[in-house]
Amino acid sequence: MPLVSIDLTLLVLTGSSFFILGAYYQHHDFLSKVHRLIQEDPYAFYIREKLYDTLQLFNPYCLDQLDGSSSRMSQIMKYGFPGLDDIRVYSDFILSYDRRNRVAHWVYEHLRAPCVKSNGNGAHRRESYYQADMSVPSNFRADLTDYRDSRFDRGHLAAAGNHKCHQTHCNETFYLTNIAPQVGKGFNRDAWNNLEIYVRDLTERYGSVYVCTGPIYKPKHQLRGVTDAEHCGKVDDKWCVEYEVIGENTVAVPTHFFKVITVESKLPGGSPYMEAYIMPNAPISSSTNIRNFLADIREIEHIAGLQFFNGLRRSFFFGTNYSTASDIYRNFV
Ligand SMILES: *[C@@H]1O[C@H](CO)[C@@H](O)[C@H](O)[C@H]1NC(C)=O
Ligand SMILES: *[C@@H]1O[C@H](CO)[C@@H](O)[C@H](O)[C@H]1NC(C)=O
Repeated sequence: MPLVSIDLTLLVLTGSSFFILGAYYQHHDFLSKVHRLIQEDPYAFYIREKLYDTLQLFNPYCLDQLDGSSSRMSQIMKYGFPGLDDIRVYSDFILSYDRRNRVAHWVYEHLRAPCVKSNGNGAHRRESYYQADMSVPSNFRADLTDYRDSRFDRGHLAAAGNHKCHQTHCNETFYLTNIAPQVGKGFNRDAWNNLEIYVRDLTERYGSVYVCTGPIYKPKHQLRGVTDAEHCGKVDDKWCVEYEVIGENTVAVPTHFFKVITVESKLPGGSPYMEAYIMPNAPISSSTNIRNFLADIREIEHIAGLQFFNGLRRSFFFGTNYSTASDIYRNFV
């Protein structure tokens, strides 16, 4: 690359510091790591531009780990990055962190049958404990104290029960970056838990399931003529986003949570099946079927500001008749 060497010569000639030279080589080093990744994985080639963007955001700690974790990362992110804000790489899930809300934007997991079985290889959630993720700058970090006096559960986004193959994987789901304030009774311990169990059932049945989970702060319609001074002021038929924040770090309490689930077919060449859910962060009656919470993926994209299966035509994966929420759910055999 002659242009680059000319740049380099100029840098040296103008007496720029060795710091710049060092930065160049560090940059060069991780670009070559990306090139290797792209050679190993055709999907990485497809999303290479996104990958470059993302890798620029990695901190040096992550870069050091890139060699070991890159193939697992490209596997987990096979269907693309829903967004690129503050990407954090853990050993068995990838997360995008929302510094303003102190809760993740999304968490992506790739579930495999052996790692979701209750008699897995010995990882137990009782051996893990909740902890702040010290790699997040302190002014943007959620702390244990934020949750302590709140009425909310510390709800997992990547469920602990999805990561039973290694204790480290299970432990990492307890970082507060992967936790959000969830209503306990009727939600985290019930309806949401049922949705997690449903995802694990799919995994045991089909072997390979991708799941993206995150919070939603959903606009609410305020009806004409209703006055609510405490919240949105004098209300006259408008939409407002309203959510509680807890603790000194003002951790946001999402109004809803979503899951986007992609199930890979066992049949060779079979296309994947996808469905999405939005559930309110509220007690849900135990008689309510989770299918009532099936959602149009475009609603999630719109409210959360994310884009799923980025760069790929959905029709390629999910057929040409993907148009309404009711179309999303079809029998998958
Ligand atoms: C998991 O976390 C527990 C509690 O901090 C710790 O004792 C244990 O060593 C961790 N295990 C692994 C494999 O990281
Ligand atoms: C798509 O839907 C339309 C109307 O529901 C139907 O006529 C058509 O056969 C469908 N096409 C495919 C490929 O399933």
